[in-house]
Amino acid sequence: MAVTTSTLLRDPVGSLDFVKVTESAAMAASRWMGRGERDAADGAAVEKMRETLGEMQISGRIVIGEGERDEAPMLFIGEELGLGGFEVDIAVDPVEGTNLVANGLPNSIAVMAIARRGGLLHAPDSYMKKLAVGPKAGPFVHIDAPVRENLEAVANALEKPINDVCVVILDRPRHADLIREVREVGARIKLISDGDVDACIATSIESTGIHVAMGTGGAPEGVLAAAAIKCLGGNFMGRLEPRNEGEAQRAQAMGFGKLDRVLTLDDLVMSDEVVFCATGITDGDLVRGVRFFGNHAKTHTILVHSAGTMRFIETVHRLGARPLATAAR
Ligand code: FBP
Repeated sequence: MAVTTSTLLRDPVGSLDFVKVTESAAMAASRWMGRGERDAADGAAVEKMRETLGEMQISGRIVIGEGERDEAPMLFIGEELGLGGFEVDIAVDPVEGTNLVANGLPNSIAVMAIARRGGLLHAPDSYMKKLAVGPKAGPFVHIDAPVRENLEAVANALEKPINDVCVVILDRPRHADLIREVREVGARIKLISDGDVDACIATSIESTGIHVAMGTGGAPEGVLAAAAIKCLGGNFMGRLEPRNEGEAQRAQAMGFGKLDRVLTLDDLVMSDEVVFCATGITDGDLVRGVRFFGNHAKTHTILVHSAGTMRFIETVHRLGARPLATAAR
């Protein structure tokens, strides 16, 4: 059966088509793993993502991408992509965790979220304070509540002692007070050097053992994480935290409105029809990284759809002339 353009978003099976976008980006970036060249990894992924999106039957518009047109040659905000069809807004991060790839560290992913036109917040390239939890704890936390209150609420909702609760925080000097407070409450902490999209989403997937993600990271990454979390039934709250006057003015110029308002899942992702996919570049909490063998590569992708499906997709890609059947497992 032919997949029409509109079923790409309405039908979880139709959305399978999007997987090849993050798969191609992850394979391109993973060639640069550990080579200390974050820009090269990013550039390779951007190029592949753009090429693959360009071949899809959509009228896509990048709303979160590599930056403004003058600073980003490809996947710039406002860029139109696709062969024409159903109008969608697209948020991408071809390499989420460029340092992770450059250093061969875990949890780098190629990420994309797609929604109906107008369905994703145009987040400025600024910082965002974030709080993410899974479905059970979702109704009981608030970004403005004290750390202790939120962690006690999570422990209660998960029926765990507080010292079983695992909180992920970006390892940054700006989080010194937050880390101290979490330690005082007695929860466990996983400090990460980069990659808070992966961490936020992991809170909504029980098997990861991650229960809360807290702290300040990139605002565009906040929208990407929110897209997945909205599909998975967890909770995410954010608040823009411009780093300087220039960023604040830029956000105002984009029509962001009141800068310090709390952003709920519905503010960040306005559409009820959303697709999110992320393919592992290096091994991580959500997905495994790219493996190369012979003329083949194996990718691992998480695809979540607002219709209520979460798929983990393992794909073997033939890179050369050898038939798939001879690919080593
Ligand atoms: P890049 O992939 O652009 O390098 O971003 C990685 C990241 O760690 C994000 O996951 C996070 O939101 C942001 O950077 C944090 O920013 P900063 O490094 O300035 O603290």
